[in-house]
Amino acid sequence: MPMPKRAAQAFTAVLLAASTVTALSHTAAAADTLGSAAAGKGRYFGTAVAANHLGESAYAGTLDREFNQVTPENEMKWDATEGSRNTFTFGNADQIVNHAQSLNMKVRGHTLVWHSQLPSWVSGLAATDLRSAMNNHITQVMQHYKGKIYAWDVVNEAYQDGSSGALRSSPFADKLGSGFIEEAFRTARSVDPNAKLCYNDYNTDGVNAKSNAVYAMVKDFKARGVPIDCVGFQSHFNPASPVPSDYQANLQRFADLGVDVQITELDIEGSGSAQATNYSNVVKACLAVTRCTGLTVWGVTDMYSWRSSGTPLLFDSSYAKKPAYDAVLAALGGSGSGGGDGGGGDNGGGNNGGGGNATCTVSFAKTSDWNDGYNAEVTVKAGSAPIKGWSVKVTFAPPQTVPSVWNGTASWDSSGTVMTVRDASYNGSLAAGASTSFGFTAMKNGNNATPTVGACTAS
Ligand code: XIL
Repeated sequence: MPMPKRAAQAFTAVLLAASTVTALSHTAAAADTLGSAAAGKGRYFGTAVAANHLGESAYAGTLDREFNQVTPENEMKWDATEGSRNTFTFGNADQIVNHAQSLNMKVRGHTLVWHSQLPSWVSGLAATDLRSAMNNHITQVMQHYKGKIYAWDVVNEAYQDGSSGALRSSPFADKLGSGFIEEAFRTARSVDPNAKLCYNDYNTDGVNAKSNAVYAMVKDFKARGVPIDCVGFQSHFNPASPVPSDYQANLQRFADLGVDVQITELDIEGSGSAQATNYSNVVKACLAVTRCTGLTVWGVTDMYSWRSSGTPLLFDSSYAKKPAYDAVLAALGGSGSGGGDGGGGDNGGGNNGGGGNATCTVSFAKTSDWNDGYNAEVTVKAGSAPIKGWSVKVTFAPPQTVPSVWNGTASWDSSGTVMTVRDASYNGSLAAGASTSFGFTAMKNGNNATPTVGACTAS
């Protein structure tokens, strides 16, 4: 029995060598899903998810294929997790987190302190009791998900719309004063020091009185050492509230305060090319801001959108890709855009006479996984000395194939199973301790195995 099997494998490997070498010669094929294209730009592309739709195959299939980050749409909110005091219910949120984890998708925790979807028992508390309830809620929820959440919306929508720049009236602001925000962030940091802590809001997408107030708060937090890592811009747009012309500039000014920024709940009402252009502009704005680390659309399909009648999402009610989808994929440099980086020139990165103490290490993560294939990201980190170039060997289980590699230059051994990825021209030089990453899409062709990533060689 073993003999024919090995022979068959060897035969497949030869075929593989021929086909992969062709596919990879110089210009890598462009990524063809939102998540893989975003990964090619060092970002994630996510969606809000509702636990009650995970059992629907078209919903889960689209989610699993296209996205590499999720935000539970309602399941982590206070009313869902602590409907009565100190009794916590995590079943629905757990379903989403487990689903995401099995596919190596990032999870954004949404949200700990918010005036809305807040049980009435909380609103009824007097100040001292409310403070301890708030801190207990943050503590219990964050502890339950510790290590599983890349970022938490610690406080959501604390500011008023309009020109006042004041906090919105809420049980928290009214009874605890403006200090509740700082207290929430400090508590959150003490519970899970590895989660990024974000402030999240809407109508803060352009420069206006409300975003100025949030800006002042973040600036003050950074100056005083109050722990905050990121600011989320919900980005719910419609004709009455369009994508602002200073969207990118606004993201940039927050990033310049020393926080990451994310587009957290993107949806844009409309259809056809107008909607597509708006989506494309949002994606381009994020890509133009180095610290804009990812985008999340507020739902998979128009059918289940909270603003369904405005058809604001990327997939229609039959899960067909809309023009907005193509525009987003193209803006991310995916296959709709003609693809390729035009690179492929030999940058000589391995032969620059780097010092003898040039070292690097690698880490590997599957960023998404679907029936037929998976995407992976390999992070290369320079050791204690700067490096001028790097290379990493990745060994695949036959008959897997690799149609696409980004941020690296790939070549294959004669067996067709070992891919050596060298730096691309722009990411070979790394300062001591600095890192970069390359990514690839692999087709399983029936074999689900994870590839073996070898040691990193630096020059
Ligand atoms: C919305 C959900 O999409 C709806 O299903 C729910 O009924 C109400 O909340 N800002 C937020 C999100 O931070 O949590 C909101 O989500 C949309 C506005």
